[in-house]
Amino acid sequence: MKKFAQMFLMLACIVVLASCGSKKEEAATEDYGTPDESSEAIAGDVIAQGELLVKASDCKTCHHATNKLIGPSHTDVAKKYDFTQANVTLLAGKIISGGTGVWGEIPMSPHPDISQDDAEKMARYVLSLDGEKEH
Ligand code: HEC
Repeated sequence: MKKFAQMFLMLACIVVLASCGSKKEEAATEDYGTPDESSEAIAGDVIAQGELLVKASDCKTCHHATNKLIGPSHTDVAKKYDFTQANVTLLAGKIISGGTGVWGEIPMSPHPDISQDDAEKMARYVLSLDGEKEH
């Protein structure tokens, strides 16, 4: 009887270990996925972060996603520029340094406290608004 209990315990251990092992495997495939899926997930993530940053900043006092306020609607900005790394850098610079003369005489205020990294996320969000994907 004692032996039976020992056997039972051992079997239980094996079952627990085996199920732990298979869970780990599942998590690993979920983390990496197929290359295509994960790069799209990362791109979507950056755009979502950019959206949060824009919403948390003062952009909305002058910009609306689809309507012109003091500044152009961010969708109009997206339509004007191709969604490329060069334009992400260009618009990130404009977000940080401000500027005037592209859309009219009203200047865009500078945002020296926004990091280059965050400004590029914001630019990616803005450039995504016309449905274009980065290329
Ligand atoms: C004080 C008002 C104001 C605020 C605040 C503001 N903008 Fe602007 N923004 C403008 C104006 C005005 C323009 C058009 C400037 C021009 O004609 O060159 C503009 C232009 C832009 C452009 C297009 C630049 C170009 O060269 O075509 C982007 C992108 C942009 N803003 C993003 C943002 C983001 C992101 C924020 C928040 C961090 C923000 N803006 C905050 C007024 C503002």
